[in-house]
Amino acid sequence: MTKLLFVCLGNICRSPSAENIMNHLIKQAGLSDRITCDSAGTGGYHIGSPPDNRMALAARKRKIELLGEARQFNRKDFENFDLILAMDRDNYRNILAVDTAGKYKDKVRLMCEFCRSHDLKEVPDPYYGGPEGFDRVIDLLLDASEGLLEYVISQEQLTITN
Ligand code: 4NP
Repeated sequence: MTKLLFVCLGNICRSPSAENIMNHLIKQAGLSDRITCDSAGTGGYHIGSPPDNRMALAARKRKIELLGEARQFNRKDFENFDLILAMDRDNYRNILAVDTAGKYKDKVRLMCEFCRSHDLKEVPDPYYGGPEGFDRVIDLLLDASEGLLEYVISQEQLTITN
């Protein structure tokens, strides 16, 4: 089983979107028994909250329902997950700050590394902006998630069953 963890700041906008988009693609590929996803926030302000309504609306336009409850990233996540995907560079730094012994750096990547048709290096924080920012997050994450799934399939030598 390959375990993926998506991380942003609040765990109510970008990382739950990444988690649910990725789950959607994994299901389509018939790989739900081989790859699992979760998400977390580096901050603790929204612990227990469902995904942001504006984010859920943008996802629903693409036929993806956002499920989940915000939780905070913690050091046990380094052992529990194979790959940790940070939405932006601040998230990346804040994740590595928890890895005080520097043991897990190789597990942490920027989500946009896996984009194939977008040039952005970070998934922009949509929280204080207008609705178009949320749509842009979904488009970017769909692109990155497709690239990420292809990467995991090749790394783990998985076979798509449908
Ligand atoms: P996220 O978005 O990190 O994508 O979940 C944010 C959610 C909340 C806040 C900032 C970003 N906040 O400042 O409360």
